[in-house]
Amino acid sequence: MGEKIGVGLIGCGAISKAHIQAIQELPDLNLIGVTDRDVSLAARIAESTNTKSYPNSIDLVSDPDINLVVLLTPPYYHEELISLCANHGKHILAEKPVGVDVNKIKTYVDLCKQKGTQLSVVSQHRFDPSALFLREKIDQQKLGKLITANCTVHWHRPKSYYDSWHRSKSLAGGGVLVVQAIHTIDLMLWYMGDVETVFGYTDRAVHTDIEVEDTAVACLKFKSGAHGMISATTGTYPGYPSQLDIFGSSGSISIVGDEVSFYSSRLDQENSITDGLKGETNLDHGNISVASLKAQYKDVLSAIRNQSTPVVTGDEAAKTFTILEAIYESSRAGKAIRL
Ligand SMILES: NC(=O)c1ccc[n+]([C@@H]2O[C@H](COP(=O)([O-])OP(=O)(O)OC[C@H]3O[C@@H](n4cnc5c(N)ncnc54)[C@H](O)[C@@H]3O)[C@@H](O)[C@H]2O)c1
Repeated sequence: MGEKIGVGLIGCGAISKAHIQAIQELPDLNLIGVTDRDVSLAARIAESTNTKSYPNSIDLVSDPDINLVVLLTPPYYHEELISLCANHGKHILAEKPVGVDVNKIKTYVDLCKQKGTQLSVVSQHRFDPSALFLREKIDQQKLGKLITANCTVHWHRPKSYYDSWHRSKSLAGGGVLVVQAIHTIDLMLWYMGDVETVFGYTDRAVHTDIEVEDTAVACLKFKSGAHGMISATTGTYPGYPSQLDIFGSSGSISIVGDEVSFYSSRLDQENSITDGLKGETNLDHGNISVASLKAQYKDVLSAIRNQSTPVVTGDEAAKTFTILEAIYESSRAGKAIRL
């Protein structure tokens, strides 16, 4: 075991609890301190975790004991904070979405490369046992040729959820696509590969007074020739677990919530699943799987120590964001967008 990696958190809101728990449970990480625009909140979190509270982000990134900075602010601030961290030689784990503007995101991804700092983006579902199971089956060609993928995220968010940065296009970068469905879309892209064309519609179906979309549907054509569909909303009641289905010429799989609910392959009949694999289901804002988050921290730690590539790189997060922006563009223009 190498020396512990010192960690600093910027942003002490809803998601910080899961991150703090993950960091505290990993013996190779040491939470050094936190900061938040709300200094009294940062002071409370620092006191409860027996760590330092910094008056601002500059002071936090200037602390030589901090090697990894975790960005937990609303997405708009991720971009300038990535730049601040990279310029101070700090490694970064940014919450999703990595930013709100794809061109700025690409600039900051390049800056991290120039400065030799690791940039990884939280996509904890890639580390769910169900997601790793599917990754293995696809890598082993058990599904055969991938034909179609369906990504459905039909969640419920009350009106009060949008009395915050979540309603603002400039702060959030978008609505249900970039804040909720991004996890399942990221998984779909991870399995299905590069996208050639998208056609999408976005709408404010229920939360009509917000700037961002609460509902989106899209069709995707992948470079492999496969097809995909996305259906996402925060307007439904009571809300369902998100679902990803991948259908191939030799096998098919469904992940519901964080659980494989169905898997069948004619090349792998002994491993069929028809009655579900144990997993967690997340419908509440901020209530995420700490086990999967810890697995992502371990991946980031290994990338820092071995100067290797983390599973979720800044480049990949930028690629996902490019596809989401293309869906917005398609909805505005009323035509398919070629990537
Ligand atoms: N991985 C997941 O499943 C998951 C789940 C929920 C949220 N998130 C992401 O986590 C991030 C934070 O979400 P949240 O729900 O915790 O938001 P939140 O509004 O509850 O908390 C954000 C915190 O950041 C602080 N802040 C705002 N601007 C700041 C700045 N410039 N400098 C320092 N502090 C600042 C605010 O005071 C607030 O305490 C978002 O990017 C969100 O998309 C990810």
